[in-house]
Amino acid sequence: MSKDVALAVLGASGAVGSEMLRVLEQRNFPVKSLRALASERSAGKKVAFRGGEIVIEAVGPESFRGIDIAIFSAGAAASRARAPEAVRAGAVVIDNSSAWRADPNVPLVVPEVNAFALAGHRGIIANPNCSTIQMVVALKPLHDTARILRVIVSTYQAVSGKSGKAMLELTAATKDALEGRAPRAQLFPKTMAFNVSFDWPFAANGFTEEEMKMTTETAKIMGDPGIKLSATTARVPVYRGHAESVYIETEKKLTAARARELLSAAPGVVVVDDPAGKGWPTPRDAEGKDASFVGRIREDHACDRGLWLWVVSDNLLKGAALNAVQIAEILLAKNLLRTKNPLYT
Ligand SMILES: NC(=O)c1ccc[n+]([C@@H]2O[C@H](COP(=O)([O-])OP(=O)(O)OC[C@H]3O[C@@H](n4cnc5c(N)ncnc54)[C@H](OP(=O)(O)O)[C@@H]3O)[C@@H](O)[C@H]2O)c1
Repeated sequence: MSKDVALAVLGASGAVGSEMLRVLEQRNFPVKSLRALASERSAGKKVAFRGGEIVIEAVGPESFRGIDIAIFSAGAAASRARAPEAVRAGAVVIDNSSAWRADPNVPLVVPEVNAFALAGHRGIIANPNCSTIQMVVALKPLHDTARILRVIVSTYQAVSGKSGKAMLELTAATKDALEGRAPRAQLFPKTMAFNVSFDWPFAANGFTEEEMKMTTETAKIMGDPGIKLSATTARVPVYRGHAESVYIETEKKLTAARARELLSAAPGVVVVDDPAGKGWPTPRDAEGKDASFVGRIREDHACDRGLWLWVVSDNLLKGAALNAVQIAEILLAKNLLRTKNPLYT
């Protein structure tokens, strides 16, 4: 049997979907056929792939017939509606939305951390939240050596984490502000022009849904409920690339030098930590790159087993498209395309 894959990308016209096509191309993923899917709004538009063009189709119940892998990035509602159809048609779904992440029957996977969880999949695999992915790639090697007990994280998240349209709103609002008009806020609760704000629904405990996602998803991916994580997530006027200030407390003392050594050897991590030589990562440095960049590694002066990190990554790549394609590559390499006990039959 040919190892080439019949692929569908749902959300192909979106910010993550278009990045997905680029990543598949760049990594030379063995695509036998590619179906680009979105809603009626984009049906008939074209997307570029491998030097040609593919016409976007409106997703429907028949869209997944003959598909081996369906990568979804079309939001939670579309995912809840369409993933069971895709699984019934025999496809494995890799989903970027929050729809399935908490489901105990659905592995939540960051390949550098818990690729082993893919073996038990039942047709749907969830890609974690972008802020969580870039952080756990850096936490994993430190946890394995010193056992992390607590994480306090504050994020500075780019507007592309919301959608492609959110990037356009930042441009328009910035122009408004520069030209002396009141900057618009249509998609965002407050304008993002020259601003820092909060952009997610608030839960009853006062945390935002994004903050609680970081807590629950980290516990599931790292497989250790002993890691207590508390987050503050903020939106900043950056197009692309999330930055995070991460504070950890470990069971065993971890020096900054040892942490630097562990992180330098970790898959998916690049250490950029030379403050005297302006060596710290920024969203601009990370744009278009695959890694989680880590800098500002320092022992806390207020807590003996405390360590600070600054973690930056491209939210559209490792935070979404790249992580999904890496999962697809493992499914293929480990022969996990067929679902033994599908969630939906
Ligand atoms: N942006 C990030 O950094 C990031 C990171 C991780 C995960 N995600 C997740 O990825 C998903 C997409 O994000 P995005 O930033 O790419 O959003 P986006 O730019 O708004 O794109 C959304 C895509 O989904 C399609 N879509 C929306 N509703 C649909 C429906 N009912 N049926 C079929 N297709 C539908 C849209 O098609 P039309 O063009 O036809 O409207 C478009 O292709 C979201 O679930 C998001 O949470 C995003």
